[in-house]
Amino acid sequence: MPDAAVILETLEQVAERRGDPTPDVYLQLFQSYPELERLFLMDRDGGVRASMMQQALECIVDYVGDRLVAPQIIASSRLHHDGYNVPPDRFDCFFVALRDSFRAIMGADWSPTMEREWAGLLAEFAAIR
Ligand code: HEM
Repeated sequence: MPDAAVILETLEQVAERRGDPTPDVYLQLFQSYPELERLFLMDRDGGVRASMMQQALECIVDYVGDRLVAPQIIASSRLHHDGYNVPPDRFDCFFVALRDSFRAIMGADWSPTMEREWAGLLAEFAAIR
């Protein structure tokens, strides 16, 4: 069970330092997995990218809180994305890119506790099928 306070503190700190981190996350995603960039060619106004970011953040906040919807959303989106040419095991790369870009934004203030709690959260997400 990831420590909600640590995860939420990261989100607050990232927002304070960076404002909207959406561009950072996609830069990170496409640097790590260049082949994924072409999937967004039709997303000219960035609407799909913004919706994905929003849903990912909503899942994170819900999961460390009341956990009312995140497991269902992750399980169904994982399957649904197969139809977008994103195989089920690739789906988690977005959460990895999100964590990696948050780590970069936090710089020296990224703590071992943050590293541990985010790793735990991502491992639990990856196990949701
Ligand atoms: C590397 C992982 C992922 C890739 C490459 C990816 C790719 C895509 C693509 C290409 C679309 C547009 C499909 C279309 O309209 O034809 C899409 C839609 C969407 N994705 Fe992802 N996705 C990933 C992970 C995620 C994650 C983790 C979430 C949230 C938990 C998410 C949430 C969404 C949502 C909500 C939409 C619909 C957006 C809209 O139409 O407004 N995706 N995804």
